Amino acid sequence: MIALGCDHGGYNLICAVKKYLDEKGIEYKDFGTYSTESVDYPVYAYKVATAVANREFEFGILCCGTGIGISIAANKVNGIRAAVVNNEFGAEMTRRHNHSNILCMGGRVTSEEDAVKFTDIFLNTPEEGGRHDCRLAMVDEIENGTFEVE
Ligand code: RB5
Repeated sequence: MIALGCDHGGYNLICAVKKYLDEKGIEYKDFGTYSTESVDYPVYAYKVATAVANREFEFGILCCGTGIGISIAANKVNGIRAAVVNNEFGAEMTRRHNHSNILCMGGRVTSEEDAVKFTDIFLNTPEEGGRHDCRLAMVDEIENGTFEVE
C-alpha cells in the first residue's frame, strides 16, 4: 500500500503515477492535493511522511515542482528517508543503498513518462542491507541525537 501526496506543482505528475498504479493493481491512498490550485507542500509532505513513519504504508510518493521542497519537509519526520529522483540509476540506488521509503519527483523537471519509470524501478528494487545497514544506523543516530564522531 502506497501513500501519495503532492502540491500544485506536482499534481499532474502524481496523476500519471496514479494511472500507473491503477494499471498495475497496486493499492494506494491519495492524501491530496487534488488540483493545480496553489497549496503549501509541507502539509502534504507531513501527511504522507507521518503515515509512512507509522508503518501504515510501506512507501510514499511525493511530487512538487522540483521534488526538493517536499522531500526536505518529509525528511524532517523521524524514520523517513525521502529521496529526490531525477534518473533511473538514482531510483534504483536510493532503494538499494539508502533504503529510501519515500520517492520524491518534480513536475517541472520530470516528464510523466519518466516519473512512471522511476516509480516502477523504486517500487521493485530491494534493499541491499549489508554494509549499508550500519551507515543507515548512523543516519538514525544523527536523527535521534546520539551520533558521535571522533
Ligand atoms: C511551488 O511553487 C514550488 O515552490 C513547489 O512546488 C516546490 O517546487 C518546492 O520545492
